[in-house]
Amino acid sequence: AKEQRHEFVIQEASVTRLCNARTIVTANGQYPGPTVEVSEGDSLVVNVVNNATYNITIHWHGVRQMRTGWSDGPEFVTQCPIRPGKSYTYRFTVTAQEGTLWWHAHSSWLRATVYGALVIRPRDAVPYPFDFHGEIAPIMLGEWWDMNPIDVIRTATRTGAAPNISDALTMNGQPGDLYTCSSQDTTVFAVKSGETNLLRFINAALNTELFVSLAGHNMTVVGADASYTKPYATSVIVLGPGQTTDVLVTFDQPPGRYYLAARAYASAQGVPFDNTTTTAIFDYGASSMASPAMPTLPAYNDTATVTAFTTSLSNLHAVELPSAVDEDLFFTVGVGLFNCSAAQNCGGPNGTRFAASMNNVSFVLPSTVSLLQAHYQGDAAANGVFTTDFPANPLVQFDYTAQNVSRALWQPVPGTKLYKLKFGSVVQVVLQGTNIFAGENHPIHIHGYDFFILAEGFGNFDAATDTAKFNLHDPPMRNTVGVPVNGWAVIRFDADNPGVWLMHCHLDVHITWGLAMAFLVEDGVGELQSLGAPPPDLPVC
Ligand code: C2O
Repeated sequence: AKEQRHEFVIQEASVTRLCNARTIVTANGQYPGPTVEVSEGDSLVVNVVNNATYNITIHWHGVRQMRTGWSDGPEFVTQCPIRPGKSYTYRFTVTAQEGTLWWHAHSSWLRATVYGALVIRPRDAVPYPFDFHGEIAPIMLGEWWDMNPIDVIRTATRTGAAPNISDALTMNGQPGDLYTCSSQDTTVFAVKSGETNLLRFINAALNTELFVSLAGHNMTVVGADASYTKPYATSVIVLGPGQTTDVLVTFDQPPGRYYLAARAYASAQGVPFDNTTTTAIFDYGASSMASPAMPTLPAYNDTATVTAFTTSLSNLHAVELPSAVDEDLFFTVGVGLFNCSAAQNCGGPNGTRFAASMNNVSFVLPSTVSLLQAHYQGDAAANGVFTTDFPANPLVQFDYTAQNVSRALWQPVPGTKLYKLKFGSVVQVVLQGTNIFAGENHPIHIHGYDFFILAEGFGNFDAATDTAKFNLHDPPMRNTVGVPVNGWAVIRFDADNPGVWLMHCHLDVHITWGLAMAFLVEDGVGELQSLGAPPPDLPVC
């Protein structure tokens, strides 16, 4: 195992897309940012120097960060932001994970442009559990706004209205040639006839779940979120923001050019979304300049295809989980509305402002210290910053997936509430979608952990009948689960990583609105002493 050193200089750069030049925040002037490549077992030392005009932090999405919580990155959770002119060095090891993860800014909406791939190959002499000839560069799906994404969310936060949807979807930062004024902004991948390649997909979009398809070619899924799956052949893959999927493709079609295309899966009824199609071109190197073949993508509301895909993924290995758990938690997830006074003049539906919550708590980040630092400094300090009374169950039970439930039942309450987990406990969480404002598929992500997905379904979770559906034998392991629209998903993990770990919807607009909570995992030693003291360069607020 090696130590790999990188420097990310966060800086503004001018980038032109759709014939509009815009100043965006980048890492090292690159958009998307640099790919980080490691072998399993390597450690990473990444010095982040902030030469931009915004505060920033970097999060290593999906990296377990075993006892390295100071390097996880979400602002005000594990660290204060790196201010302009300052720097911070992230130090961690990537172990027991192979495949594709990524890194992104975890501060306001900066991850719209500050993100990159993290490729984890098996260590020397360890084979992949499948055969292929070579790899295509990671394919990062994203969104492009014709205005500064920070201004988009600042405006929405001020007015309480929904933020503007993006103006284009992107692949490796390029919209592709189906947009006006975009033929120069198309990624082309050269492939060799007869070869089987490994393709790594990352959904780095802020607010859009995506269908992805390659014209004329099937894809065989072999991994997701840096965990191997049993091979699964499909013509379309589905990724929520935060998720990755590794697939094998055999280029066995007549030599030519084929579009790889991605389009939104928009599960919320009546909510506007970016309905454009982004493309890249897979080129066999044939001289023909005929237009590329176009794949058929599912309709934007094709939930059946999403379910067929997600329920077809299983762990490559048998894991055999026990049926008993130590913590049996039930969290509702959803978007709601805050009441506003006439004087506040809110821009949301009927003079309200948008809010989102888990178990009716709309998460509020501290602003003077990070949660982890507050806890490390001792309970006295922590007491003023957060409380540990996040509810294990909804405080008010109602028909979660019915339409038009009384707003009195679900008025979200702002708070900085954590749920305390004993070190080593077996934790199960039922994530129950709600239909309060609109039912929607929520990609729920946990920091510091991978989890098994035991089951998913529609309607209200019913322990009496749904427990029988749990896959305890070979459940897929991920760091982000799509909770079905007006449905539920059940996840399981062992609380073996001490620290403060954020759990949130990876639709950025929802985390902005409060669809988050955090776990405080004790270390069995007392007050997280096993984490070690905060690094000397940890930013102060
Ligand atoms: Cu990919 Cu909290 O983030």
